[in-house]
Amino acid sequence: MTRKLTIPFAASAIACGVALILAACGNGSSISAPPLPTDPDARADARAAALVAQLTTAEKIQLVHGVGIPNAGLGGPYPAGVNGAGYIPGVARLGIPGLAMADSAGGVNVVNSNATALPAPVALAASWDPTLANEYGARIATELRVLGYGEGLGGGVNLAREPRNGRTFEYMGEDPVLTGTLSAARTIGTQAQNVIATIKHYAMNDQETNRMTSNSVVDERTMRETELLAFELGVTQGTPGNVMCSYNFVNGVYACENPYLLTTVLKNEWGFKGVVQSDWTATHSTVASALAGLDEEEPGDIGGGPSIPGLTLTSYFNTALTSAVNAGSVPMARLNDMVQRKLRTMIRYGVFDSPPTPGGTVDQTAGNALALQVAQQSSVLLKNAVASGDSQPVLPLNAAGLSSIVVIGAHADVGVLSGGGSGAVPAAAGNAVSGCVSPSPLLSTCATWYKSAPLTAIRAKAPNASVTFVDGTNATAAAAAAAKADVAIVFATQWESEGSDLPSLSLPSNTTDSNNQSYDQNALISAVAAQAKRVIVVLENGSPVLMPWLGNVHGVLEAWYPGVQGGQAIADLLFGDVNPSGKLPITFPMRDADLPQPSISATDTTVTYGEGLFMGYRWYDGKQIAPLFPFGYGLSYTSYSYSGLNAQMDASGNVTVTFTVKNTGSRAGAEIAEVYAALPSGLGEPPKRLVGWQKVALQAGQSQQVSVSIAPKLLSTWDATNHVWKLNGGVYQMIAGASSRDPNALTASVTLTGH
Ligand code: BGC
Repeated sequence: MTRKLTIPFAASAIACGVALILAACGNGSSISAPPLPTDPDARADARAAALVAQLTTAEKIQLVHGVGIPNAGLGGPYPAGVNGAGYIPGVARLGIPGLAMADSAGGVNVVNSNATALPAPVALAASWDPTLANEYGARIATELRVLGYGEGLGGGVNLAREPRNGRTFEYMGEDPVLTGTLSAARTIGTQAQNVIATIKHYAMNDQETNRMTSNSVVDERTMRETELLAFELGVTQGTPGNVMCSYNFVNGVYACENPYLLTTVLKNEWGFKGVVQSDWTATHSTVASALAGLDEEEPGDIGGGPSIPGLTLTSYFNTALTSAVNAGSVPMARLNDMVQRKLRTMIRYGVFDSPPTPGGTVDQTAGNALALQVAQQSSVLLKNAVASGDSQPVLPLNAAGLSSIVVIGAHADVGVLSGGGSGAVPAAAGNAVSGCVSPSPLLSTCATWYKSAPLTAIRAKAPNASVTFVDGTNATAAAAAAAKADVAIVFATQWESEGSDLPSLSLPSNTTDSNNQSYDQNALISAVAAQAKRVIVVLENGSPVLMPWLGNVHGVLEAWYPGVQGGQAIADLLFGDVNPSGKLPITFPMRDADLPQPSISATDTTVTYGEGLFMGYRWYDGKQIAPLFPFGYGLSYTSYSYSGLNAQMDASGNVTVTFTVKNTGSRAGAEIAEVYAALPSGLGEPPKRLVGWQKVALQAGQSQQVSVSIAPKLLSTWDATNHVWKLNGGVYQMIAGASSRDPNALTASVTLTGH
């Protein structure tokens, strides 16, 4: 029976103006529910709760699992035009729309959609630019929505604990603060366009080898100070609607049925109000998962869809969950909570009231413009030396002074490389070139190039020079061509994909990646370097690359997987129309043997995080191993100086670090000024950690004061006894510089009181 409230006329009128779930509005005196709150979070909660109260158990169950994989033709039925990774049907009688979701690491992964392939997320991270990350998230969301998807499955934030991880290109490097900050900015951009953002894969899913069976063994303090900190910042600052739990076990418990990760930390401590969604087939139980905090099973129940030989997909959240709820082993309150989370997320992020419909057209002009901008801002100039007999560094190239350029290798005559797996972005119509040398039966094991040929863009920059192309398959021929040219530009690639790890960080060869590579890239570069007057290497890759030839080349430009405008961006950077400003979000080691995990075992499924807190640059710093290029490193065509460092605690308990950056060269540029903290000794911490940065655009000769405010958490350690962040009293060194190993970095100390 509905209890009627009698309220005065004025309040009733207001209630009728704002509430969607009121009964009896207009009768002047009575309603069946209080007015909805105006705060958007509280309002979404209230609207969702009202819907949950009206759903049958069967309808609730329908909302907590998917119905297969549209793009694989598994399960269904799906609405016409839905072709992504998953779909949850709605409940029409209550106006609850269906929700289509698609992968979206660096663009929408839906074939024939003409979605924009932006540079890979690792490239975005190299921009260190939260504003760009926001635009990246917004662009992808705009395209998701136009194509009919209300949820994007991009947003990988796993840290590069193991840089040979085949998904390194989908993530944002090795630092939790850089990754978490950019993740939050991306999420905010996505959700502002009324698309639910996902961050994934929660957690400690840091390699692909045995990804579905491996057990990440890692102590609590290490987790909290490394990868979980990236998630913490991403969740608390970005408030994504969706967190995808991962395939692996964490300390012996599947991530998707891990109460510590899903409930203790994510929901209770971080206050996550959205949906915990399993990675595709990462649900392994009904009761344990539901009670641990899993809210949605994907791909869910494929029902009567076509079967794939050898693949059985068990659904745990359809009939099995119904039985568990009926039996009381999963309380109805827990099922209600799952549905509440789903509906409040759909309401809060705009896909409930304005559900996207398939069939729209992607604005490729807008997409290409952002793709170009991100590629220009994310490439990293790693080396720029003066060739013998010259007075200037080899870059930027001066078209007027060059009569011959030879471009060598890596299909630079047709396009730029992209990464594989669910993080791939299918090329727009007519824009793909397969790099397969020996096509494997599974298309996903083949590299794809987008038709954005560096050769074409280089020719356009140097119209009066003879610009030739040599494919690189014959190192002797390439070296001979290089010997005759003013400058040789060698392109080199490293293809990686979800589902497997790289055997080495060495550039792949015809031996180590025979599917995609028909020659030995290191041998090619060395042969060319031995003959060329000037030689520049351009890298297209997702993970760090070893460079045994580094001492023999003059320039190295790291372009990552540069997206659909990559060829143009590379030429803009090589010729100085754009001044490089990216910096490495990941350490480039000298050799594989310098990595914390010497090799990735194919057979031992226990992945022990034995390096503890010493992950990424913290490992090289702590072990005093010289990297090839340190975290945070990147050159420019101008130069910068840092001065006047000051660090002090402000009234709110933040430490504010100020200093001045000056452009001391002759070109405009943008400098990423980095701030690290060395914690008091005796805490077992690595020598330093990134705590903030600012990217400053400076004209030649211009100075700007930089001010970086550092929250106490970023200076804290995790107290694994009391399970809290702890700010330790003592002297902190605040270090401001151009990289994590800047010999000219400034240091100031600040004494903090512990709490
Ligand atoms: C991947 C996820 C992806 C999902 C749906 C899984 O294999 O790990 O990142 O979102 O597939 O395509």
